[in-house]
Amino acid sequence: MPSPLHIAFAASEMVPYMKTGGLGDVVGALPKALVRLGHRVTAFLPRYGPIAFPPGQFLGSVHVPVDSVHRSAGFYRVTTADGVDVVFVEHPSFFERPFPYGEGNADYGDNRLRFAFFARAVCEFFRSRGERPDVFHAHDWQAGLLPVYLKAFYWDDPTLYRSPSVFTIHNVAYQGVFGLDTIGAIGLPWNLGTPDALEYHGGVSYMKGGVMFAENVTTVSPQYAREIQSPEMGYSMDGPLRARGGDLLGILNGVDYDEWDPSVDPHVAKNYTADDLGGKAACKADLLRSMGLPEFPDLPLVGITSRLVHQKGFDIVTGAWFDLLQRPMRLVLLGSGEREVEDGFRALAARAPDRIAVRLGYDAALAHKIEAGADMFLMPSRFEPCGLTQMYSLRYGTVPIVRSTGGLVDTVEPWDAAAGTGTGFRFDTADGTAVLWALDQALAAFKDKKGWRTLQANGMARDFSWERSARAYEDVYRRAMAKA
Ligand code: ADP
Ligand code: GLC
Repeated sequence: MPSPLHIAFAASEMVPYMKTGGLGDVVGALPKALVRLGHRVTAFLPRYGPIAFPPGQFLGSVHVPVDSVHRSAGFYRVTTADGVDVVFVEHPSFFERPFPYGEGNADYGDNRLRFAFFARAVCEFFRSRGERPDVFHAHDWQAGLLPVYLKAFYWDDPTLYRSPSVFTIHNVAYQGVFGLDTIGAIGLPWNLGTPDALEYHGGVSYMKGGVMFAENVTTVSPQYAREIQSPEMGYSMDGPLRARGGDLLGILNGVDYDEWDPSVDPHVAKNYTADDLGGKAACKADLLRSMGLPEFPDLPLVGITSRLVHQKGFDIVTGAWFDLLQRPMRLVLLGSGEREVEDGFRALAARAPDRIAVRLGYDAALAHKIEAGADMFLMPSRFEPCGLTQMYSLRYGTVPIVRSTGGLVDTVEPWDAAAGTGTGFRFDTADGTAVLWALDQALAAFKDKKGWRTLQANGMARDFSWERSARAYEDVYRRAMAKA
């Protein structure tokens, strides 16, 4: 029996404290699964404005050297009911803000300092306590400097000597790119500003730091791991990723079924199971009511919950509005993001207010109601590292219609009516014709009640629980440790 590990997570989101997307879900769930396997996890998160102060028990403070300004971080710990230690990093002038990255569509101007400070504070926390975790696990560009710091400043530190790290890419499109002067501004040695280190098209990229300096790199689905090594989908990180190809692995995200399970979900009108889908009709009626749509039960209802950004492809849907309105279907959308996409959906709802309803904003409870109340769930993503909502949909008996990209390929199997196999509908090209083609297939399949029930049952039987993925991460942690 291999010894249990102490894993230090560093991430900018974690459910239930802060979430803008799937990163928060993953960082909320993976530590729990690792603890269930017998490991110890200490997860670091900035103490943002919406997180009540003090967020936990005060553990002390340390000086965190980043730029020439003298700054300290305070640390506060809570141990969750699942046995995960969460350490909040407190520095009000950086983190006492309503959002983690920016407001409106503008990033905060000091993000390079904020997240350098965060990554370095994690190192200083352990150094100051004389404690060395077995492995660090840094997530996305916001924690990308952690592997860099471990190598640049702590490699021969008496506490943190040769500390290995694993870096996980949740989305290669967000890379934390800043000016080349950042190297000096955050006190890194100048030789780190070179192409085989952090230099990136004349600037620096924190994500590249994670990619180049972690012992192992992972991303959130096997298919996306292949895609991001290609120039078409690598957002210019494909070169560094190919260079690390032997150390790069795709591990599919899991679903936190404590949170997303229709048989226990407290947010839905009526709980239901795969054996008895009766409650789903009540959920549909409830959803229609809360979105202000008339309650004809038979007209299929397509649900969408998403960030409305280029990645997610919803401009393709609003662009196809005319054809969409000809379909015998209704649509509910919850999301927020780019102005044009929001406007597009507003206009669509104005054209067919009895069939299309949109809620622009963030609403955690409504996200659950949509998973439960819709018949189908639409994800026309241009790229999708993993995607969680299609996996939630499968468990809720809500049939996903997805573009064949990234984790959507790994999680949604095309329906074959003759064989009675498959869990959803997939299309290949990112254009209106393809979306409508897949929608039409789903609408036709919906008419065959018996076939549709098989399709729902197939999806509900799929098990994406975290345990398998947590074991895969454990394996990567041990590989990283063997290298350091
Ligand atoms: P991404 O991380 O790219 O946004 P994922 O599918 O991995 O995509 O995760 C999205 C998560 O965020 C899901 O838990 C989804 O329910 C949630 N979500 C997205 N938009 C909203 C919203 N407007 N309101 C509430 N939850 C949302
Ligand atoms: C990113 C990706 C999404 C993934 C999530 C969690 O936000 O866009 O596909 O599911 O991270 O890994």
